[in-house]
Amino acid sequence: MDRRDFIRLAGGGVVLAATASAAGCAPVGADPRAAWDNPGAGETDIRRKALSFAILAPNPHNMQPWMADLRTPGEVTFYVDRTRLLPVTDPFNRQIVIGFGGVLAYFQMALRQFGQSAEQTLFPDGEPAPRLDDRPIARLRLVGAPGGAGDPLFPRLLDRRTDRGAYADRPVDPAAFAALLASPGVSGTIEAGRLGRLRALVYEGARIEAHTPAAHHESVERTFIGAKDVAAHPWGISLDQPVMAAMNAVGVLTKAKMATPGTTAFNEALKFLKTGADTAQGFVWITTAENRRIDQTAAGESYARLCLVAAAQGLAMHPWSQGLQEYATQKPVFDALHKELAPDGGRIQMLSRIGYPTAKPRPAPRRGLNAQILKA
Ligand SMILES: Cc1cc2nc3c(=O)[nH]c(=O)nc-3n(C[C@H](O)[C@H](O)[C@H](O)COP(=O)(O)O)c2cc1C
Repeated sequence: MDRRDFIRLAGGGVVLAATASAAGCAPVGADPRAAWDNPGAGETDIRRKALSFAILAPNPHNMQPWMADLRTPGEVTFYVDRTRLLPVTDPFNRQIVIGFGGVLAYFQMALRQFGQSAEQTLFPDGEPAPRLDDRPIARLRLVGAPGGAGDPLFPRLLDRRTDRGAYADRPVDPAAFAALLASPGVSGTIEAGRLGRLRALVYEGARIEAHTPAAHHESVERTFIGAKDVAAHPWGISLDQPVMAAMNAVGVLTKAKMATPGTTAFNEALKFLKTGADTAQGFVWITTAENRRIDQTAAGESYARLCLVAAAQGLAMHPWSQGLQEYATQKPVFDALHKELAPDGGRIQMLSRIGYPTAKPRPAPRRGLNAQILKA
């Protein structure tokens, strides 16, 4: 049996993951962005309704590794699908846990929006270290109506995007910047000198990653080019704009070429990243004093919320995680970033550039709720 077909639960027993996603492929003809259209419509189980929003959370490489177990009434238990990790660039699954923080934040926000609340226990069977195992990430128990109105940021959940494009040559409005800094654990800069240093450092992290074959190949393997390939794989990095498909058709943009330094595909990708770094109008980052699983989860909750604040302010966000990663060749950038941003100690968990968008990106594909519900 394929490992992908099963998730072994800590409490014993094996459950079958939904088959379409389990094979990594979606049914032929499915719209890879359908999850963004009217999420939760027609759902009668409030857990499923709220999960329809939670699956839209930002997450590393769009791997969407979470699985929800709904078999106990009134509860949701989240597990990780360990076939969807990033072993080279995220060797201790730190970023994957940050992604879970976002899922939990949006799940709780959606529940409250629909008049419910849940008690949340993180890592109820202990914090897995140094890597995630098959123990649950979180268990949530519905506990009734919270009272009060929903979160005013909730509607922004559908507007939020990771925007990797060039940003406008326009400084960030100080009031909008102050709104970002009001989120828990968030720091930032729009100051010219620091901005220059950070632009150079994040690009250097990306350049190093491109020249570290194991790390670079991990991304290339998770990239899908053209509408058909993306529809079949509604996860990973999606290059399905018509221009990408056209370059793929003439053989300029292929995975093999992306993986090979010196090709047009390789050079253009770095040029694109350089433009992104150079047009950053500011940076925001999230620091935690320690680097336990609960700190990583908290950073993810904070980042997911920060994305909504940015969307409400009309600001674009784009995380640059390469220099924060643990593999050996990033050490100089890792150290330089921590010296610059956390001189008194602590772990930088997220670092994103900010600015005003020049074009609104399409939403990133999602596997869809049914692919992420554990079946008994
Ligand atoms: C922990 C974490 C790290 C991320 N790092 C990067 C990154 O280095 N570069 C990047 O382009 N996007 C990064 N992202 C954004 C994801 O790639 C993005 O959320 C995902 O592809 C889904 O797209 P969406 O946010 O538009 O829904 C990161 C997201 C998270 C949660």
